[in-house]
Amino acid sequence: MSRLVVVSNRVGPVKDAARAGGLAVALVDALRARGGLWYGWSGKTDKRAVDYASIEDAESLSLATVDLTPEEYEDYYNGFANRCLWPLFHYRIDLTAFDRRYYEGYRRVNAKFARVLYPLLRADDTIWVHDYHFLAFGNELRQMGAEQPIGFFLHIPFPAREVLAALPHHDAMVRGLFAYDVLGFQTEQDCERFRDYVVREAHGIANGDKLHCFGRTVTIRAFPIGIDTEGFADIAANDKDARRQFDKVTKGLGDRTQIVGVDRLDYTKGIAERFQAYERLLQEYPDTRREVSYLQIAAASRGEVLEYRQMREELDGLSGHINGTFGDFDWTPLRYLNKPLPRRALAGLYRASKIGLVTPLRDGMNLVAKEYVAAQDPEDPGVLILSRFAGASYQMPEAVIVNPYDSKGVADALQIARYMSLQERRERFEALMKRLRAEDVAQWRDDFMSTLATVTRRRTISA
Ligand code: UDP
Ligand code: G6P
Repeated sequence: MSRLVVVSNRVGPVKDAARAGGLAVALVDALRARGGLWYGWSGKTDKRAVDYASIEDAESLSLATVDLTPEEYEDYYNGFANRCLWPLFHYRIDLTAFDRRYYEGYRRVNAKFARVLYPLLRADDTIWVHDYHFLAFGNELRQMGAEQPIGFFLHIPFPAREVLAALPHHDAMVRGLFAYDVLGFQTEQDCERFRDYVVREAHGIANGDKLHCFGRTVTIRAFPIGIDTEGFADIAANDKDARRQFDKVTKGLGDRTQIVGVDRLDYTKGIAERFQAYERLLQEYPDTRREVSYLQIAAASRGEVLEYRQMREELDGLSGHINGTFGDFDWTPLRYLNKPLPRRALAGLYRASKIGLVTPLRDGMNLVAKEYVAAQDPEDPGVLILSRFAGASYQMPEAVIVNPYDSKGVADALQIARYMSLQERRERFEALMKRLRAEDVAQWRDDFMSTLATVTRRRTISA
């Protein structure tokens, strides 16, 4: 079996991959099975950073990481990746910074990553590149002469043609993607938008799951990412830390219904809109007062980017307003925390919460929605309220699906969830779990890897 090389901006952790979640577990398993290499950014900046990878051997796999200079970090990570591609691909043209310096920095850093990896590659490696940080990476590797199979998976949404066209270098970005052999997206809708761009904007030709353009053919497919469903359900039911968190939450709750939201603090997650919907619930359904308790975990993220700091201030204001208006000596309607919770504790928190509120304005997939369901007690499961704009909604139609912009609709969904019968909750839960088990993270990984192997085998035969 050929060696697997995984490329992603964040690398690891390897030792306790379970702590980072299903994706790290799935990748580490595949890397171990193939004596693989995981390559990306070290997480460090250094004024004297040079073209060099430090390599560390870690139990049947290796990690290779590269430092960035502060300028590279600013232009590539904070700049182009997180102030341009991230907002634009999530339909926030209003928050997108179209700065040529960022674009040039991004190209330079993609080229640097390729230059440093190239001498470490073996002729029979298979390379799997992840996410919007590395749109241009495959092309850089090819230009250096790499002929290995290279697959790419985009974890975030692919935007509509006219939104992408707002990016000054959209044509070069898409052309660069044709250096890959397989392009994986989260949903069929993302594939369709990519195809639409290529056919209408770049005059490519679509034929089934193949797209021909710029003198190359790529295979386009949806691979909806999953979680380690069995593993997470087991943690929620049996793990010591999960039980401790469960007890902590239920003890303080009394007869109240707990609503939970868990997100990175990010404007794509619709947290401000969610707060407004909760306020609407308290206003329009006075029977909810003292009867519900909403806990929102919003783990601080990308704090060096202005838009994230502004959003944090906005949420501080909104949460203070709700508690000031509706709270009482013995009741805090909204508890809002900025610190992250370890995954095991999260599992217990999900299980203790009768309603999971997941309402992003746009999301590639949203793993929290899947984790919330997997953590439920099958005898007495909670209800998931899920935005139609999360990739997960296509696989989870038995959730209560909402439009996150419609605060009255979300407030109504919360009331429906509060009064849903046990039988209906069980039916929805079982249908959701059936798919979560079949479409888990191991399935996602194996599906992508076998598609890449098939496509490149055919390429070799026809050459
Ligand atoms: N997460 C966590 N602790 C927190 C908040 C989030 O471990 O305090 C994890 C969560 O369990 C999930 C991941 O972070 O696995 C978030 O993934 P998701 O797809 O929901 O959103 P993203 O942050 O990737 O946009
Ligand atoms: C999303 C992206 C990932 C990213 C993660 C955390 O899930 O798709 O690529 O790693 O957010 O963001 P950060 O900027 O901290 O890596």
